[in-house]
Amino acid sequence: MRIVRDVASVRAAVAGAGRVGLVPTMGAFHEGHLSLVRAARAACDLVVVWLFVNPTQFNEAADLAAYPRDEERDAALAAACGADVLFAPTVEEVYPAGHATTVTVAGIADVLEGAQRPGHFAGVATVVAKMFNMVGPDVAFFGAKDAQQVAVVRRMVADLDLPVEIEVLPTVREPDGLAMSSRNVRLGPDDRRRATALHRGLSAARDAVAAGLRDPVAVAAVVERTLAGEGLTAEYIAVVDPGSFAPVASVDLPALVALAVRVGPVRLIDNMVVTP
Ligand code: PAF
Repeated sequence: MRIVRDVASVRAAVAGAGRVGLVPTMGAFHEGHLSLVRAARAACDLVVVWLFVNPTQFNEAADLAAYPRDEERDAALAAACGADVLFAPTVEEVYPAGHATTVTVAGIADVLEGAQRPGHFAGVATVVAKMFNMVGPDVAFFGAKDAQQVAVVRRMVADLDLPVEIEVLPTVREPDGLAMSSRNVRLGPDDRRRATALHRGLSAARDAVAAGLRDPVAVAAVVERTLAGEGLTAEYIAVVDPGSFAPVASVDLPALVALAVRVGPVRLIDNMVVTP
């Protein structure tokens, strides 16, 4: 596996390569990331892993400063999963002096995560548009844990006619259900245990909907009660259309239950599709 740092080198590496798969990441790899790299390896002739802790999508300086970084470990893991190229650009390569263009996606990027983290999705959309233009992949692989990010990227790809297929892989979970996240390493033992309430709450909501519950307020209340059992309060619990992220009036079709919860020093997100 080659490690490259600039646009010219990544373009040279993909030139004439056949089907190119891109795995966008901010590093600190866990099984969720590695499942994306393996899927790309199985489906593509050349696999590029993007590793860049994108400053423009962090709305809290402390979160950016605390974001775990270990490029050496990430490079070894990416190589072991079959990546051909690790593209780890510098901040100056991605945002040279004078950079003045931002991609904003209206509507879908303004609710839930977008409302709680102003500017977050503009940072995501801008860097994803840039990496697609830098690398020129045929297909890019994202994780379902960031469901709203996936919806924002799909909207942007459609609206800007970007010739990139978007593949979404299921959330990878710890044995006790906690969704894998690079931020989980910052949970102390007690918070780590309490954090299982996110998945337990979502599972209870899924079961309640399967058993006939249709009122989204009542579905959210099921999750809320599970969180309260651990002394946790959600920033939001939303029952939305999985494509548009518009709230649903009644769960008559598969809907997405999405939530964000602060557990100790860490803000966690998770989601689950609930099917009537
Ligand atoms: O999902 C992530 O890790 C990031 O939001 C992404 C897509 C790599 C953009 O920085």
